[in-house]
Amino acid sequence: MSSRIIPVSPFDYVVFGATGDLTRRKLIPALYYRFADGQFDEQSRIIGVSRTKWDDRKFRAVAREAVGEFVKKDHQDKKLLERFVSCFSYIPNDVTDPKGWAELRASLRDDENVVRAFYLAVAPNIFGPICNYLDKKKYWRADARVVLEKPLGHDLASSRQINDAVAEVFSEDQVYRIDHYLGKETVQNLLALRFANTLFEPIWNSAHIDHVQITVAESIGAGTRGYYDESGALRDMIQNHILQLLCLVAMEPPASDEANALRDEKLKVLRALKPIAGEAVHKTSVRGQYRGVTSGDASVASYQDELPEEKKGSHTETFVALKAEVKNWRWAGVPFYIRTGKRLAQRVSEIVIQFRAIPHSIFAHAVGAPNPNKLVIRLQPDEGVKMFLMIKDPGPGGLRLREVPLNLSFADTFATRTPEAYERLLLDVVRGNQTLFMRRDELEAAWAWIDPIRQAWDEAAEGPQTYTAGTWGPTGAIALIERDGRTWHEESDDPLA
Ligand code: BG6
Repeated sequence: MSSRIIPVSPFDYVVFGATGDLTRRKLIPALYYRFADGQFDEQSRIIGVSRTKWDDRKFRAVAREAVGEFVKKDHQDKKLLERFVSCFSYIPNDVTDPKGWAELRASLRDDENVVRAFYLAVAPNIFGPICNYLDKKKYWRADARVVLEKPLGHDLASSRQINDAVAEVFSEDQVYRIDHYLGKETVQNLLALRFANTLFEPIWNSAHIDHVQITVAESIGAGTRGYYDESGALRDMIQNHILQLLCLVAMEPPASDEANALRDEKLKVLRALKPIAGEAVHKTSVRGQYRGVTSGDASVASYQDELPEEKKGSHTETFVALKAEVKNWRWAGVPFYIRTGKRLAQRVSEIVIQFRAIPHSIFAHAVGAPNPNKLVIRLQPDEGVKMFLMIKDPGPGGLRLREVPLNLSFADTFATRTPEAYERLLLDVVRGNQTLFMRRDELEAAWAWIDPIRQAWDEAAEGPQTYTAGTWGPTGAIALIERDGRTWHEESDDPLA
């Protein structure tokens, strides 16, 4: 079963930072899948721009390689690939140098039916200069779009600077701030689950929900990405991806799926987050950094070992666990436990809605106590939804209660490839649909909540707790939830897994 493909208008997509890893790993493969599905054709152009002295041939060769490496083998087709790469051209241009812009100007079509989009996959300190040139050279049109890649600042003040610089040229309805988590299928499914069913909404509140857990665990390390040490897990994952997930879980039903209706509701959640500052930071947060481990012949390096000499001793956190609270009528008293980290036991992203226990058990003589119900929304891998229910274990004899999951596995149900987040997002830009992009006020509200946490950590004499690579993080993270008489959900909790 596959979804209906609606072709988009032809476009000129200018990608600044075209020689970078993001273009190769994410943007090119995503565009290939969309091209293969017939969502756009050779009338559209992808124009790469970067300082490196490549030409069209080199960019096309890189596009071929990227497809070869990152597109599933059974989706690759040589003829199609040649048609696809014919959309690619390249312009070497140092964006901070006034020379070299003329060629870009000449390559843009002035036909109003051709959508014009500028994708800024470069360091955010040059977003301003790029937008400035686009303005001076009249490259933008009132309907041109600008796409901003993270990191959108490192705190509230710097994110304001970046947004101010972009806003000098582009109005908010032209700006598309990428949070690729919003492009993930299961994240959008959260909206369908909550608002296309009557079942959950009446019980989606503190009267019925005990707490919520959001886990985004990665098994990979931070590697040698220089950016990571400047950022750390709080900025890299929580400020954006995880807070967006929290918003989708906690927000009120929007009146429609119109972009601003949804963003208004998310903003209310961000503004309702109870501030965590000063001493409270140390009680409600745990940060960690992985240490290496050797097992037999295999060994995993510690975060410190991966750092260049001048950064050794860094206090950057590769793990964060937090207890957040949304101060409003719906959620008062319901903790949101969130955790994320690198080099954890398993790659898994999931949201767990833990319902309250039944008010009274009639099963005085049964074996096994009735566990409270639990809804697990698995974002990756093995996307799906599991509703844990209590049933009677089949068979004669006494009554044995048993917890089993109703399991909706997307792979089994739809037998189709799960699209990559960027496929959806790149073409939403062309369609002019901002629903899955962060509005400026959302971004700033998220930073305003994050900044005091960061500040308290920076002021603390102690660095992060260490944890062994391949585990679930520092012991403090387990204590954070266990202190409240609760436990992190793990796959082994699923009796049929
Ligand atoms: C990125 C972070 O935004 O998301 C990375 O910068 C992280 O550090 C990545 O690895 C995780 O994305 P995904 O889609 O693999 O869960």
